[in-house]
Amino acid sequence: MSKTVELIIDGKSYTFPVVEGTENEFAIDISDLRDKTGYITLDVGYKNTGATKSAITFLDGDKGVLHYRGYPIEELAERSSFLEVAYLLIFGELPTKEQFTKWESDITRRTMVHEDIKKILDGFPSTSHPMGVLSSLFCAQTAFYPESLNPNRPADGVYLSIIRSLGKMPTFAAWAYKHAVGHPVNYPDNKLDYCSRFLKMMFALPGQDYEVNPVIANALDKLLILHADHEQNCSTSTVRIVGSSKASIYSSISAGINALWGPLHGGANQEVIVMLENIRKDGGNIDKWIAKAKDKNDPFRLMGFGHRVYKNFDPRARIIKQAADNVLKDLGVHDPVLEIAQKLEEIALSDPYFVERKLYPNVDFYSGIIYRALGIPEDMFTVMFAMGRLPGWIAQWLEMRNNNEPIGRPRQIFSGKVTRPYVPIQNR
Ligand code: SDX
Repeated sequence: MSKTVELIIDGKSYTFPVVEGTENEFAIDISDLRDKTGYITLDVGYKNTGATKSAITFLDGDKGVLHYRGYPIEELAERSSFLEVAYLLIFGELPTKEQFTKWESDITRRTMVHEDIKKILDGFPSTSHPMGVLSSLFCAQTAFYPESLNPNRPADGVYLSIIRSLGKMPTFAAWAYKHAVGHPVNYPDNKLDYCSRFLKMMFALPGQDYEVNPVIANALDKLLILHADHEQNCSTSTVRIVGSSKASIYSSISAGINALWGPLHGGANQEVIVMLENIRKDGGNIDKWIAKAKDKNDPFRLMGFGHRVYKNFDPRARIIKQAADNVLKDLGVHDPVLEIAQKLEEIALSDPYFVERKLYPNVDFYSGIIYRALGIPEDMFTVMFAMGRLPGWIAQWLEMRNNNEPIGRPRQIFSGKVTRPYVPIQNR
């Protein structure tokens, strides 16, 4: 592959360097395009534009490959744990036994939140969507830890923000749920592991013993691993661009939570279940809903299908589909929407509309079925995605900061009115 490319504009030749990644990806470095040519590029939705160089996650959308720091997602999902994967994503290497013991202890000792968080929580109506509550509680850490606002905070201070984020996220999530259902909140039981502690905060009731089902805790741990990072997706790009203004890690990640909330992104896992339930209530008329998804005059899309990068299969969807089968069998749960999902996938993948557009099930298509089997309510599904994606957001924010990347500020092509004189209101 050549090391440069040539661009000819109005007969004049310009040369730009080619950047090659460690996985044989190639990019044209156009950092000085405007200075050299006066032109910018236009790429609405950044479908062909690299925002950065990153060493964290590698995707190959054509081959259905997903690696975290070089480790295949299939191996990590099978053999690792969420906190170990979080360490890998953030620090770049799998931890030694001693490193992991300290890491887990540091996070466990930061699961409590300030009692004044309850006052913020009480300000939300119980009908609030938990994603809005979560992004507010997460950002409120800037008030309780104002030292986090220092953009030049030393590394040990940044580490403290990292372990606080990972320690408190499950507490914020569980408290948002308890507030929504009108139950008293539960305090974190630090004798338990990360997922068991969260489940107990979510589902324990006053005066009743709560035993965590290890099948549920293990399934949740695997789901969090599968959601932990995904290179420059919408919410991660949001975290990076907010952080590029030297905003704190808490406000950057709070912005990422809000970006993830959208139904085209992390909010899809909740919309998939709504869609499957609608199909079930409609007598399982899958062909009708496939036709709606293909109809350009119908805003309905097959939720949990399609992906900006994966044009073959989403490896996470394959793992989650298998896990859904196993978890429902282990728990003895029969969920009619699982059969509908499997039939929908089968029909869609044989339909030319989906095949031509390379639309396959994505991470959100089956995850909601597992969450439902674990007893997680629908409007908490995207909160679970946020809990999983937290270490990825942290790792990407840290990489952007450690690389001293400039503030993100894209250009535009103006398409509005050209210069015109002001007209007083009496003359309009
Ligand atoms: C996530 O980026 C990431 O990595 C995200 C994520 C992560 O881990 O962070 O993987 C998580 O967000 C997964 C995606 C969850 N969203 C959904 O399931 C919502 C449904 N899917 C889409 O709306 C859509 O597929 C996107 C948003 C995921 C991708 O959209 P693109 O890449 O902008 O593609 P597009 O909208 O330009 O679609 C291309 C064509 C269009 O048809 P034509 O105009 O060519 O005729 O495919 C069609 C679209 O109409 N299409 C669909 C469809 N998705 C795309 N048609 C019906 N149903 C769908 N789901």
